[in-house]
Amino acid sequence: MKEQVEKALNSQIQKEGQSSHFYLAMANWAERQGLNGTSSFMYKQSDEERFHMLKLVKFVNERGGRALIPSFEKPQEEFESLMHVFELLLEHEIKVTESINKLVEVCLQEKDYTTHNFIQWYLAEQLEEEAQARTILDKAKLVGEDKAGLYLFDRDLENSAIQIQPANTVNPET
Ligand code: FEO
Repeated sequence: MKEQVEKALNSQIQKEGQSSHFYLAMANWAERQGLNGTSSFMYKQSDEERFHMLKLVKFVNERGGRALIPSFEKPQEEFESLMHVFELLLEHEIKVTESINKLVEVCLQEKDYTTHNFIQWYLAEQLEEEAQARTILDKAKLVGEDKAGLYLFDRDLENSAIQIQPANTVNPET
């Protein structure tokens, strides 16, 4: 595996793991607020990001590279509101997408078409996660501080009623 590609993949491993850590802190906060639907959703997001990290670790090792297990920054513990959580989620996912795009550039520069092909799965996943975060943030903005609305929002999130399934949905187990 080319050095620059390995470096970029290891950097992405760190970002996926950091995302998992960040979403775990969000789940923890939501659980303490009694927002059980939101916490279930964020625990699931955290698990998905860990899966994204593991998929990269295995790919690097299988291709003869050396995956590095990163350390993580301590995530923030407190959030201003439910809306704040989903604003940060969207902001964070946009940054991850930028990082995946840079990874694609490195693959093309280094003519590593196998890794380029592997990364397409992440591009599709990012598209889905960004769209989902936008949809949920829009709903959270509508609800604002209205207590009854918050209750329904949280319940709907638990029932996945306001999650979306874009046409390009990718099975995370593949
Ligand atoms: Fe795996 Fe949502 O970044």
